[in-house]
Parts: sequence; C-alpha cells; structure tokens
Amino acid sequence: DKIVLAYSGGLDTSVILKWLKETYNCKVIAYVADVGQGEELSGLEEKAKASGADKFYSVDLKEEFVKNYVFPAFRANAVYEAGYLLGTSLARPVIARKQIEVALEENADAVAHGATAKGNDQVRFELTYMALAPHLKIIAPWRQWEFKGRSDLIAYAQEKKIPVEATLERPYSMDRNLLHISYEGGILEDPWETPPADMFKWTISPEKAEDEPEEIIIGFEKGNPVTINGESFSPADFLDYLNKIGSRHGIGRIDIVENRFVGIKSRGVYETPGGTILNIAHRALETITMDREVMHLRDSLIPRYAELVYYGFWFAPEREALQTFMDKTQENVSGEVKLKLYKGQCMVVGRRSPYSLYFPELATFEAGESYNAKDAEGFIKLHGLRLKIWHQKGK
Ligand code: ARG
Ligand code: SIN
Repeated sequence: DKIVLAYSGGLDTSVILKWLKETYNCKVIAYVADVGQGEELSGLEEKAKASGADKFYSVDLKEEFVKNYVFPAFRANAVYEAGYLLGTSLARPVIARKQIEVALEENADAVAHGATAKGNDQVRFELTYMALAPHLKIIAPWRQWEFKGRSDLIAYAQEKKIPVEATLERPYSMDRNLLHISYEGGILEDPWETPPADMFKWTISPEKAEDEPEEIIIGFEKGNPVTINGESFSPADFLDYLNKIGSRHGIGRIDIVENRFVGIKSRGVYETPGGTILNIAHRALETITMDREVMHLRDSLIPRYAELVYYGFWFAPEREALQTFMDKTQENVSGEVKLKLYKGQCMVVGRRSPYSLYFPELATFEAGESYNAKDAEGFIKLHGLRLKIWHQKGK
C-alpha cells in the first residue's frame, strides 16, 4: 500500500502517478532524481502533488552519478556500438539505486517506473531493483495498463485534470542528464530523415560555432579527470564545465542506429559535449602511459563492458569484475592532455605524464645506445620462419 515512483514530471510519469493511485488505491511517493536535468526540475513538487502524490522526494545525485557511474565507465573507455557514450544507460542504475533507498526508508512495498515496454530503460531499472531489493514488488505501468499510446495518455490526463503541457509536447522523446541529451522516436523514427536543426538543445552546430579555436588542458589522476587548465573541480563540476566548453564548439553530436537489448533497432541522436572531449583526452593519455599488451587486452574488453552497461547489468558480478580489471589498468594514467577545439572537432595536440613510457631516445630515427638494430634482424627472422614454411608447403 505504498509505492515509490521514479517521477520526472513529464506526461508519462504524471499519468502513471494518478493511475497507480486509482489502480492500487495506495499511497504514492513521487521520487525525483537530479542527475543534471537542469530547468526540467523546477516546480516538480507542486506538479507531483497536483497529480496526486502523497509525498515528494527530490534527491541531488549529480556528484554520485558522475563520480561512481560516469567516471568508472570513462576509465574503461566504454563506448556502445557506433559511438554511444552511454549517457542514459549510466543514469538508470544510479536513479534506481536511490529509489530503492527511498523505498526501504519509507517501508514501501513496491517501486514503479515510466519506461516503455519496448525499450532498454525498463530492463535497467528492474535489474537494479532486483539486485538491490529483491523483495520489492515491481510495477511497470506501460506493460500493464490498457493505454495504447500517448494520445490515450493525453486523454486520460485531461479527464483526470492532471497538469501536463500536452500541447508543448515535442515531436521526439528526450532524455537529459549531466553526460548527454538523447533524442529518439517521433520524427526521428525514419533513419533517413535529417534531424531538425532546432532539435539540439545543448551544443551549437559546428558551422555556427566560435571562429577561434580554443586550447584546453585536462589533467588526470589514475584515469579520472581532475583539472581543466590547472583548476581543480569535483566530478560533477568538472563535467558541467567541460560541457560548457564543448557545447560552444559544437562538439559531441552523433546520429546512430543502435541495437536495443530487446532486439529492436532504434535510431538515436545524442549530444555529449563534455563526455566526447573526455573520452578523446583519456585515450590520448593512455597512449603514453599504458603498456601495449595491457592496452590491447583492455581494448578487446571494451565492447563487453559497454554491452553490460547498455543492457542494464551495472550491479552484476561480471561488470564489477571487469571494473576491477579496468581500474587496475588506470594506476599510471595520470598526467595532462592538451586539446584544440574547433567547429565540432576535438583534436589532441599534446600529452605528458610523469609515468610516460614514451622514450624519445628510443623513438628517434637517430642511432642510439639503448636499441640494437641487430636485435631486429633476428626478431623478424623468427617471426617469418613459420610463414616461410607455410607458403612453401608441397613445393
Ligand atoms: N537509446 C538510449 C539508451 O538506451 C537512450 C534512451 C533514452 N531514454 C529515454 N527514456 N528517452 O541508452
Ligand atoms: C523507453 O522505452 O522508455 C525509452 C527508450 C529505451 O528505454 O530504450
């Protein structure tokens, strides 16, 4: 008789709030997680109460989100398929984890979310619920009610006098946090249709970006970014600041078709300004601080790691085991990367580290003491031995 709903104030969760109250005849607690939605968060308490919420929680998860979810994934260089930096995938487990905390504190019997039946988000929410509080009942209204689509929701909202700005509805679905904004559905469903220029809420388009390139230096400690141009930031402040820099240079837009966990191909457009810069900078620092074989082994595991995160297995033993490996590879990833940002591009122009494995004395084309050219001769000969045999077989 008490449900904690992950509430956003949008049409879906506003309708869900009312629907839960009517269907289950119980107390509904509206829980809002602040992972960096910005102005979308204002006025939510009044709105939730007006939709029938018995209690309202708003929790600032920005630092936790960036420190314990975004940064671990970026230490692993996590990228899903054609370039998705997992902005929504990483936010779901932190939102659900805190929702469980609220449910336990409130002695609730159930948790509910507003993710649809066709998406990844339902899986991410529910796998987290199951991992952290298996005794709680899970309610997924989109899989239970009789409403067919959004027009049914709008009609229901009007009938029940639920305050929603149905007329201001966007022609696509949007999910925003400190790491990204995602757009999908609606007019984007045709994968040939160019996204409208006015859809992008964050980054300026590359062609309208600043005419002057900007050079910045990002400092890392053990794979975590800590400074921008020598100034230190907390994780959330770091990402916030880097987003501001990236967005004015039009950095981090992608348009992809991705494979959802449920088996559907889905077109997604993303803006990830700070995350895109961070990923490029981190990679660049690894090029001088990471051993070759460690890097190649790690690279082979990135698709697996990213898939786990995308599928919703954040709180899974295999993700944690992989994280331990990923973090081990980061012990010497400390130092600085110099980047040039210009009209949608983020170019690495320098890198340095006290742990650098780059030795100019070895790299130079000039002769030196530490490398014996004769060694290369035997090295190649032995590697070529089996090729010689293979190609001469039968001759
Ligand atoms: N396709 C992306 C993902 O699965 C973004 C999902 C956006 N979610 C949303 N509720 N609008 O991570
Ligand atoms: C949703 O279905 O709620 C959004 C899309 C997704 O989860 O993949």
